[in-house]
Amino acid sequence: MKLAVIGTGYVGLVTSSVFADFGNQVFGVDIDADKIKTLKSGKVPLYEPGLSDLLIRNQTSGRLEFTTNYYQAVSEADVVFICVGTPSNAKGEADLQYVFSASQSLAPHLKNGAVVVIKSTVPPGAHLKVKQIIDKVTQVKYFLASVPEFLREGSAIEDTLRPDRVVIGTNNRQAQKLLLDLHRPINGKRILTDIISAQLIKYTANAFLASKISFANEVARLCDAYGADVMQVMKGVGEDKRIGKAFLHPGIGYGGSCFPKDVKAILAFGRQQGVNLSVINGAHLTNQTQVDYVIAKINSYIPNLKAAKVGVLGLAFKGNTDDTRESRALLLIEALLAKGSKIYAYDPMAAEYVQKFYPQLKINYRSSWQDVAKDVEILIIATDWNEFKELSLDELGKVSNLKYIFDGRNILNPDSVKQAGFKYIGVGR
Ligand SMILES: NC(=O)c1ccc[n+]([C@@H]2O[C@H](COP(=O)([O-])OP(=O)(O)OC[C@H]3O[C@@H](n4cnc5c(N)ncnc54)[C@H](O)[C@@H]3O)[C@@H](O)[C@H]2O)c1
Repeated sequence: MKLAVIGTGYVGLVTSSVFADFGNQVFGVDIDADKIKTLKSGKVPLYEPGLSDLLIRNQTSGRLEFTTNYYQAVSEADVVFICVGTPSNAKGEADLQYVFSASQSLAPHLKNGAVVVIKSTVPPGAHLKVKQIIDKVTQVKYFLASVPEFLREGSAIEDTLRPDRVVIGTNNRQAQKLLLDLHRPINGKRILTDIISAQLIKYTANAFLASKISFANEVARLCDAYGADVMQVMKGVGEDKRIGKAFLHPGIGYGGSCFPKDVKAILAFGRQQGVNLSVINGAHLTNQTQVDYVIAKINSYIPNLKAAKVGVLGLAFKGNTDDTRESRALLLIEALLAKGSKIYAYDPMAAEYVQKFYPQLKINYRSSWQDVAKDVEILIIATDWNEFKELSLDELGKVSNLKYIFDGRNILNPDSVKQAGFKYIGVGR
């Protein structure tokens, strides 16, 4: 099939590369000319494991091309995927301006029978406005569908090839059949729904996962109060198959390009419908206060944070990505800087981006965890990169005069840390 993928961010690049790899002819489109230039030269403007190889392989074979020209990409496409961003606006709603402007740009070039698939996360009913925009411009018969994306950054290719499910939301049989054909090489259950249900599946899934994290963070606070170990508590809880182990891992809160904005958006459209989503609101509030909670805990060990030299390991919102959107590590740094602490930090992938785009964060950047450790009295693990999980405590003892390790992701073994001569502080342990 011939495909156009609008937006070449995390979702658009992975979608276009994977479908090209299945033998489809794919055009990736972006309004960001620099990004397209970079992509054309065979470079990937973001870090996602395995993506560079996949992209180059398919570019070389001629199945994957990039352009800023909508006509070139859309005029022959059987399926047009909209994969542009839907960030929060000031009211916490999903800002749909990019989805609408992409719809406006693709509309004049649609061919008869094309399927326009909204992959971006959009509130229920957003496709009606997309339809209005397209209908104003073209007379061709086209179909609309919603195929929400569930990939996780860091394992996006694997998640796209082997998702738990593929949700295909459309009210049209012909479009459904075409999308089932297109997704045939992809594993996972097929969930066939109407468009609005598909849109709600995406928000409900993210709100539920975010709620599990906040739930674990609340229990962690209780564990701190009692001197219990939240990791043992959650192990005991998660073994119950009705509950499950995933996403019951406490830490400094959820961040990233999806959970924070999608939770705010579902609360906003719930409000608009007069539906009080108090459980989800609770998850949001807990997340909003988790960094303050963590700072208070650190403060109880280091009363004078003003004079403290603090090391921070990790700037990305989670390990295996360079994405820093809504990163709790950055919020933590901001709060510590406001208290007057001196920050030394290292991240394997995200440091250059933070240095460039967050100049207000006065961070002393270091090129390894060892270099961070030698300057500081407390080391905070803020991102769950594998290299921090494998931190050599022996080496840490040799290179530093460190007193405290604050394990903001609960990824170290507290006993090993203590045996190595450091004071271990975790979240709820
Ligand atoms: N990143 C994830 O992990 C993830 C996972 C699931 C779902 N999603 C959803 O997928 C959507 C895309 O997310 P992302 O992280 O890939 O976004 P992103 O910010 O990484 O990329 C969006 C791209 O769209 C481009 N763009 C904006 N307006 C455009 C237009 N009119 N025409 C062409 N290109 C345009 C931007 O230049 C940018 O390159 C969002 O709705 C997000 O919620 C993201």
